Amino acid sequence: MQPSISRQHLVQNGLVEIESPRAVHSRNVVSAIVMRAAAAPSHSRPVRPAAGMPQTRELRLELYKPRFFRRLFAIESSVFTEDRYNLELFRHLCEDNRDLLLVARLGNRTIGYVMGELHPRGAEVVSLAVATGYRKRGVGRRLMRRLLSRLERSGIVRVFLMVREGNTAAIALYRSLGFRRVRRVPEYYGDGECAIRMRLEFE
Ligand SMILES: CC(C)(COP(=O)(O)OP(=O)(O)OC[C@H]1O[C@@H](n2cnc3c(N)ncnc32)[C@H](O)[C@@H]1OP(=O)(O)O)[C@@H](O)C(=O)NCCC(=O)NCCS
Repeated sequence: MQPSISRQHLVQNGLVEIESPRAVHSRNVVSAIVMRAAAAPSHSRPVRPAAGMPQTRELRLELYKPRFFRRLFAIESSVFTEDRYNLELFRHLCEDNRDLLLVARLGNRTIGYVMGELHPRGAEVVSLAVATGYRKRGVGRRLMRRLLSRLERSGIVRVFLMVREGNTAAIALYRSLGFRRVRRVPEYYGDGECAIRMRLEFE
């Protein structure tokens, strides 16, 4: 029996907390992610504007469309190194989570994205990335706030994520949005770095 399949069974029945898709991928459990995402309900309710959101001139946040895929994968591949998704899995994730995949567009350029995923205990922030030349302008915060707004309006009460222990920029962003540390996960990433598990509870 494959241990990963039995874990998927536990996850789908809400008996254990879900793993980060990056960790799942690192063990090549592609089918587990596809099946889990296929079971997730879709979100089609309108997005509530987030109060106090920093404005970046001409920045638009759009739901994922297949024509954005190549650029998203280029950003994903350039930003994440050791633990980046391969093309096939990233395409699956984009398609399966398209209602929770927000893309930041500046003019005709795709400059970042955030992807959420539903699981039995809430939602997971699967990936967040802003292209190198566009950082520190409030893009990451706007993406996160929009995703969280969609999730909250959909009735989700808890959002989880994994972040590298040394990723001070992302941790600062998540903390400022209300995420709190749950625990440290030793040697979570392929290069041995620890992860911090974080959780946000909507009030
Ligand atoms: C993390 C990331 C998405 C932030 O995107 P961004 O558009 O640069 O972030 P913002 O401009 O919206 O900044 C939001 C907050 O993040 C924190 N932050 C962003 N860059 C930072 C840096 N270089 N150092 C410290 N804090 C930083 C700050 O708290 C900032 O708030 P402030 O501007 O009020 O100080 C971006 O740095 C990135 O793509 N990094 C590589 C991929 C990654 O690490 N993704 C997260 C994986 S868990």
